[in-house]
Amino acid sequence: MPRKVISHICEHDILNIGGMRIKEVIWIEKYRPKVLKDVLGQDVIIERLQSYVKSGSLPHLLFSGPPGVGKTASAIAIAREMFGEAWGSNFTELNASDERGIDVIRNKIKNFARTASLGEAAFKIIFLDEADALTHDAQSALRRTMERYTSTCRFILSCNYSSKIIEPIQSRCAVYRFKPISSEAVEKCIRQIAKEEGLQLTDDGIEAIKYVTRGDMRKAINSLQSAAVMGKKIDADTIYQITATACPGEMNELIESSLKGDFMGARDKLDALLIDQGMAGEDVIYQIHRAIMDFGDISDNLRVQLLDKIGEIDFRLTEGANERIQLEALIAHFMLTGKK
Ligand SMILES: Nc1ncnc2c1ncn2[C@@H]1O[C@H](COP(=O)(O)OP(=O)(O)O)[C@@H](O)[C@H]1O
Ligand SMILES: [Mg+2]
Repeated sequence: MPRKVISHICEHDILNIGGMRIKEVIWIEKYRPKVLKDVLGQDVIIERLQSYVKSGSLPHLLFSGPPGVGKTASAIAIAREMFGEAWGSNFTELNASDERGIDVIRNKIKNFARTASLGEAAFKIIFLDEADALTHDAQSALRRTMERYTSTCRFILSCNYSSKIIEPIQSRCAVYRFKPISSEAVEKCIRQIAKEEGLQLTDDGIEAIKYVTRGDMRKAINSLQSAAVMGKKIDADTIYQITATACPGEMNELIESSLKGDFMGARDKLDALLIDQGMAGEDVIYQIHRAIMDFGDISDNLRVQLLDKIGEIDFRLTEGANERIQLEALIAHFMLTGKK
């Protein structure tokens, strides 16, 4: 399913999109920012990281924020700028959720930390991705390891939720909260890549990428690359199709029909999403939720009632209830509430 390609991208998936082969490298690697100023849409953070580079000193850092907003890219860019040519030998990247147990991490950290840094560098940098995947005990052990090697190593920890990182680690780090990337920055980056790849990207194509990826630059670039397999011209239809997303207009029509009391019309539209487009029930409900939040022409009272029901149906779906029955029940509820 196309959605899988987008969310769990790896080289293998990309090579097999739609049965076609791409021989090129994946674009999130090809277009990974090399220096800090290429990391878009995080201006305040980047400015402060640049001042560390200028001064040649670095505290331990904690980067928190949603996926695909430049946390790893920033860590690598710091190392490149601080260490120049020798960055590869003075920087290592570990993933807390890959490496089973803190012992593996401690051994790797020890091996890396005990050899002297190369070149002019005063310390080495250890980047620990997904640090919030570590258990409480593992984080305590990590804290001690951080203290022990503090004269030779700086740690950059990355996580989605800083609240899952224990207080003693947070207080030893300068904490940076990365935001979802603004629409303007996504547009700038996507247009640039489209130009370099010789793609013809329509304005509605750009809007679709922004709608679908909501501030996740990795997802934006992956969507563009997946769409590029289908042809040089990329418009909204291609993007919605490749990401298994209903276009916002279609979703609004479904909601309008049901609020107006046209049950069969609404059901046909639902079928089009579930059967013709192969969307998962959970994605449909997610998009209905989003559409209701943005829906113009209804009272707050009605909106609240609809949202309440959406919450209930969403819960039932995660509990494993039948998608189709639940979504039809939701439409029926919209009809009854819309009538009142
Ligand atoms: N702020 C950004 N500016 C430019 N490209 C970005 C940005 N954030 C993410 N990317 C793109 O997405 C890819 C993955 O970003 P990454 O830094 O690994 O995200 P994460 O925040 O999940 O660590 C990068 O290689 C780059 O191509
Ligand atoms: Mg990362």
